[in-house]
Amino acid sequence: MPLPSGRKRILSGVQPSGKLHLGNYFGAIKQHIALQDEGECFYFIADYHALTTVRDLEKAEIERVKQSGGKAAKAADLLRANVRDVAIDYLALGLDPAKVAFFRQSDVPEVTELTWILSTVAGMGLLERAHSFKDKIAKGIAPSVGLFTYPVLMAADILIYRSHLVPVGQDQVQHLEMTRDMAGSFNHAFEVEVFPMPQPRLSEAPVVPGTDGKKMSKTVDRSEDPEGRYNAIEIFAEGKALKKTVMGIVTDSKTVEEPKDPATCNVFALYSLFATPAEKEEMAARYRAGGMGYGVAKQALLEKIDATFGPAREKRKELVARPDFVEDVLRDGARKARTEAQKTMELVRQATGLR
Ligand code: ADP
Ligand code: TRP
Repeated sequence: MPLPSGRKRILSGVQPSGKLHLGNYFGAIKQHIALQDEGECFYFIADYHALTTVRDLEKAEIERVKQSGGKAAKAADLLRANVRDVAIDYLALGLDPAKVAFFRQSDVPEVTELTWILSTVAGMGLLERAHSFKDKIAKGIAPSVGLFTYPVLMAADILIYRSHLVPVGQDQVQHLEMTRDMAGSFNHAFEVEVFPMPQPRLSEAPVVPGTDGKKMSKTVDRSEDPEGRYNAIEIFAEGKALKKTVMGIVTDSKTVEEPKDPATCNVFALYSLFATPAEKEEMAARYRAGGMGYGVAKQALLEKIDATFGPAREKRKELVARPDFVEDVLRDGARKARTEAQKTMELVRQATGLR
């Protein structure tokens, strides 16, 4: 069911739960921005979702401040600051608000109404099979009912805009399957065709490794390592801090002289995301030949990061100085999104007998 214009509706969301990293960029943001010329795009900052983890962020902030001195920010302030940061990051990376409805999830409160309605057609077993809930608990995030029913809110996000295509990383594919299940159950239960079946769109880099070789993530993984280390390379890190992170990427302990295997190296995997096919081949040959230490490959990666994100860093600094502009973009985006959401909710209320 394409739109009357023949264009597809494309939707995605990103949680404001910390600084955006290379996994977010190559797994999701890069294709969000590329797709803005291909369809009718709705992208939002998932602040309702972030409420499932914001108190864990607050705890981490208290820990951080304990070590460095100063005053810890409260959960509400952390959430507000993260929303603003994600908005600025997307705009700096090339999101064009003239092409995309870019908004804050909570500015369309109708999505919580649809969440409730979908929860009445979602099977318990469906939610119990969710990997992300189990993964998050294993990472030490406090299990709340909201964390458990998170996929229902995500389904509502997608279905309320009757989206066709959802560009995400591999870790969200199961949520898309659950969304299709709920859409089908709803249509079937009320004998309507309100919701089209949304499809995931994976990027070329569905799983980007972190500095420790596990999936790069904003949240620290304590599942195997109780200390848990932050394994992300932030998109907008620069200078000494960025260098320290890149130089800290875990490798094996081969000496400079020894030949190395690019296929199992985290540095090579990350370098490949930025390199042209010829550059990638050349680097792989240097690995296999021996005589090159990992430090050289790390330096090449660092240069790629600087060259790729240099212009966006400058743009970001300009945007930080224009908070009113950023707020206007989100408000305009919410207006467009809410109009669409309200149309869907009329159909849903009719279909269910709530009207
Ligand atoms: P995080 O796991 O760091 O909290 P999110 O869950 O907010 O990140 O993910 C935002 C988007 O980025 C999602 O579409 C997700 O699939 C993608 N993403 C996150 N981490 C990675 C990764 N390491 N590799 C590829 N895509 C990722
Ligand atoms: N769950 C997604 C994540 O953690 C964020 C998200 C919320 C989302 N709602 C969405 C992504 C709807 C795509 C579509 O990354």
